[in-house]
Order: sequence, then C-alpha cells, then structure tokens
Amino acid sequence: VSTAIIPSAAELAAALASEVTESSIRSLDEIPTPALLLDVNAAAANVRLMAERADAAGVQLRPHAKCHRSAALARVQVAAGAVGQTCASVAEVEALALALGPVTEFSLLLATPTAGDVTARRIWRAAEGLPVIVAIDHIDRVSELVAACPDRGRRLGAVIDVDVVDTRTGVTSVVSALGIADEIANTDSIELLGVQGYAGALQHVPGRSTRRDATTRATDRLREVVEALRSAGHDVTIVTGGGTGTSGIDLQIGLLTELQPGSYLFMDRSYRDALGEDPEGQFIQSLTILSSVISSNQTSHVTIDAGLKSMATDSGPAEVLGHPGATYAFAGDEMGFVRDASLRRGDRVRLIPPHCDPTVDRYGMFWAVRGDEVLGTIPVTVRARA
Ligand SMILES: Cc1ncc(COP(=O)(O)O)c(C=O)c1O
Repeated sequence: VSTAIIPSAAELAAALASEVTESSIRSLDEIPTPALLLDVNAAAANVRLMAERADAAGVQLRPHAKCHRSAALARVQVAAGAVGQTCASVAEVEALALALGPVTEFSLLLATPTAGDVTARRIWRAAEGLPVIVAIDHIDRVSELVAACPDRGRRLGAVIDVDVVDTRTGVTSVVSALGIADEIANTDSIELLGVQGYAGALQHVPGRSTRRDATTRATDRLREVVEALRSAGHDVTIVTGGGTGTSGIDLQIGLLTELQPGSYLFMDRSYRDALGEDPEGQFIQSLTILSSVISSNQTSHVTIDAGLKSMATDSGPAEVLGHPGATYAFAGDEMGFVRDASLRRGDRVRLIPPHCDPTVDRYGMFWAVRGDEVLGTIPVTVRARA
C-alpha cells in the first residue's frame, strides 16, 4: 500500500534538468572526449521505479552515494522520498554534508566502519551540517568516537555492522553486537539506531532463485542479531542493507527497514549481464562514455580515446552502443580497441561502462543529455580523495 506521493518520472527528470549548468556546447559532436554522459530521463525513470518498489513494500530508501558522488542526484533521490544517502567514505560524508546541509530532514549513513582519531574528528565535524549515522563493527570504535566528540549534547547515530556473508566488515557474532550495543548505551554522545547487514558478495550472483536463497540465509543472520538486541532491551529502529542486485528479494523478505542500492541509477554492463530479465535488472542504462576514434590504420580494429583512465576495467569490457557485434578491448591508460569494420578516424562511439561506481569516480562532471540532446553539465561533487 502506497503511503507517499512519489513525483512522476517526468517531474524527477525536470528536477534533474534544473540542476544542470548550461553550456555553450549543444551537440554530442562538440563534447570533448572522453566524456561521461547521463541521460536524465533514464536516470529519473530509475529513481522513480526503485522509489515505487520500496514504497509499495513499506521500506525506506537510502540510495548509495558512492555510485553517483553527486549532490544533484542525491537531491533528486531525496525528492523521490529517500530518507538520505549512504556513503562509503568519510570524504563522501564531508562533501555531501557541505553540499546538502544544513538540513535535518534527511541523514547520511557512513556504511563503512572506520578506525582512528582522525576519521572520528572528521565525522563529528561533518555532522555539524546534517544528521550522520555511522556503522560500527568494533567495540573500541565507540570510545574513539566518544573521545573525539567536540561538545556535550551533540549526538551521532550508530548502526552495528553485521557480517552476513563472511567477507569484508561487520561483527561476526551476536556476542560482539551485544557488547557494542551495551557500550553505546553507556554514552551520551552516540545513539544506537539499529543494525546494518550488507551482502555485497551476493549482489551479482546470476540466477534469481540462487540469489534469493543466499540472501535469505544472509538475512537470517541479520535477524538473529536484531532479535538478540531487542531481547536485551536495545532499540532497533533501523535495519539497513541491500543493493541493486538483491533489492527485489530484500523487499520481499521484509526484514530491512531501509534499502541502500546505488547502481540501479545507472545499471552498468556487469549488473545487466548478471541480472538479465530479473526484476532487479529492469532499470535503464542511463550512463555512457562518449569516445572518439583517434586512429583507424589497422584492418582488425580502430583505436578510441577511452582506456583505463576513462573507465574501471575490473568487471570485463565496455559494451559498444549501436554497433551490434563490435567489441571493446583495453589498450592502455588512454586508449581502447574497438573491432568494428564500419568505424573510421573521427567517428564517435558511446560505451556502456562495465562498472559504474569507479567509472564515475574518474570524472569531474556528467554531461546531462536527453537522448541525443545536450542539456549541460552536472558536477561530480565528491572529488577529494582525502
Ligand atoms: C554498504 C553498501 N550498501 C549498498 C551497496 C549497493 O550498491 P549497488 O546497488 O551499487 O550494488 C554497496 C555497494 O558496494 C555497499 O557497499
């Protein structure tokens, strides 16, 4: 049952278009390459579809900002009902707090556990601009954050990060979770809001039933911690996790109170390959790389100006749009090969990036387009690697 009025895709596209800085460049042929293009209609449709699905399941959305690193895209997601953004790094929290704050209506979740005094001080400083929630997976992080708290009366939210797939981060036992919760309960400056369980290793598992079975097992581990915390008298208001690949399954299982998907906004090639026709794959590919053919002296291939510096190549090759059968191959930092008999020096091609997050990370801005129409630019807000 829908509880919210979600703006239409057209309204969200208009909101995104209103974020654009106009450029004197009005045609795809004039954009300096390599360039990152974002189709505003496709992105808006994706924002709307995920918002509708979450709303229908009674689950809140906290899209992952590490995917877009953009205040403009965060604002559009919030306009569609998101309760805030998920961040992967302190730098993302800092940049988005500056760009989006001061506000109290939505919050930033730092989903990656952090260590040390320097990050603790930076987190407190960022939290001056808007509410910040941190993921904690070690009891010592509580005292580190308390020691760095600049003044009495200020509070950070916290969720206990639970390792649900034996991988990167998170507590590995109920006992550890209870220990952290008790430690937080003894502080004035940190408020325990709930738990996080993110099954990163399951997001790209092909085959919906395989992905569903594995997600069900991972969720059972998170549920065990939720129940233990509640039995011990701790409030668990937020149960956060999930990504694009498991989104529909997470919504069906129903333990999560908020979902953290990122890539649905762009739907890169590796996600499309893994998800195919599954409901989680039904988002439109909105992100492309515009590249120029710079040399066509070989018979077997042409060389384009998009290589490692234009896209992350950890997830296989890019897809060449509009040239069925053409293949892309990595050819160095600045170049790639495209095998397609029809291409000549000076031609332009559009590529679907294999992996969106670390591709966006390579650019200072998106060129906002609507089909072939160029609207202008949208900055990538989080640029500092501090
Ligand atoms: C903590 C966390 N939540 C959610 C996501 C979901 O991202 P995506 O939807 O792009 O898979 C990620 C991605 O790595 C993540 O690290």
